[in-house]
Amino acid sequence: MKTLLSLAFGLFAGATALGANLPTESFGQLPDGRAVHLYTLKSSGGLTVAISDYGATVVKLLAPDRQGHFDDVALGFNRLEDYEAKSPYFGAIVGRVANRIADGQFTLDGKTYTLAKNDHPGGIPCALHGGKRGFDKVLWTAEPREVGGEPALQLTYVSPDGEEGYPGTLTVHVLYSVTRDNSLKIDYSATTDKDTPVNLSNHSYLNLKGEGQGDVLDHQLTIAAHRFTPVNAGLIPTGELKSAINTPFDFTKPHTVGERINADDEQLKVGGGYDHNWVLDTVKSKPTLAATIYEPTTGRELEISTTEPGLQFYSGNFLDGTLVGKGGRKYVHRGALVFETQHFPDSINHPKFPNTVLKPGHELKSETVYHFTAH
Ligand code: GLA
Repeated sequence: MKTLLSLAFGLFAGATALGANLPTESFGQLPDGRAVHLYTLKSSGGLTVAISDYGATVVKLLAPDRQGHFDDVALGFNRLEDYEAKSPYFGAIVGRVANRIADGQFTLDGKTYTLAKNDHPGGIPCALHGGKRGFDKVLWTAEPREVGGEPALQLTYVSPDGEEGYPGTLTVHVLYSVTRDNSLKIDYSATTDKDTPVNLSNHSYLNLKGEGQGDVLDHQLTIAAHRFTPVNAGLIPTGELKSAINTPFDFTKPHTVGERINADDEQLKVGGGYDHNWVLDTVKSKPTLAATIYEPTTGRELEISTTEPGLQFYSGNFLDGTLVGKGGRKYVHRGALVFETQHFPDSINHPKFPNTVLKPGHELKSETVYHFTAH
């Protein structure tokens, strides 16, 4: 009995210790001296994800091809300094409000809030991805965890009342976990002490051939959405939910990213390619399939499921070969795809869009799953 008990205790203690022993490296130091880390989560299926507490950022994502060979499919840098100085949100958690807010302004409970206008597509200023120092540029508190016997990492950030112009102290938890069948799961939760808009997403840039391996125009994409939200010249939704059917935005059946990207289409011109939010057909409290991406040369396939109502698909139109990534290769124009599961852009100024206002006493819950296979 004693042996059984100590064995059971040993196993339990072992499980806890495994969580606590997540492989951890230094990832540099912030100007104020705080240490930054890189934590590695490896699933028993082999999927390997390295996450930094700076920006809760996915720095590496190693997925198998059809030969079982693992490559890093996420764009990123080797050095913290590059993330601080020039990252276009590579792999980061974006918030407090992901995507754009028109003119950096909104009115909530009769009060007008003014945010930093840190982006100006088409020369039109707006607030983007939480502001000058959004959740991608802060140090999160990391705690190794375990989910279903597989490694996980919980990251917490408490955004003070008034930070970047937003009302209320917002406590955010992001739980990254990997599974035996090679999924990366992201669970988001948040609570607030005042009404505030919240929209959280991950901004991983993916190239299923491997980061830095040219453009992504051959990737085959399916999106489970019949409608999208067209934008004005400043990439702000007009408010219309427009049918995508029989347009270059129709991915209800698989199409390569490049097939129609240069079509004579006003929305593609405004975005410089795809940089739009799709209105997902099915929204449930359990993650539902939103998109499938297949890369024919390596056979890698990614299925993205989410509880969110929208999917921003951005085809890396602002990449121009200036940034050099982890493997020493240039990140060329359209060298990656970004799939941001989220609420619709500028929702706070569109009362007809699904609500993004979080109230005290309520908890925001959101889940997105990236499932990797190869065939
Ligand atoms: C988001 C936006 C794009 C661009 C990138 C960052 O995905 O939709 O327009 O700003 O972030 O470069």
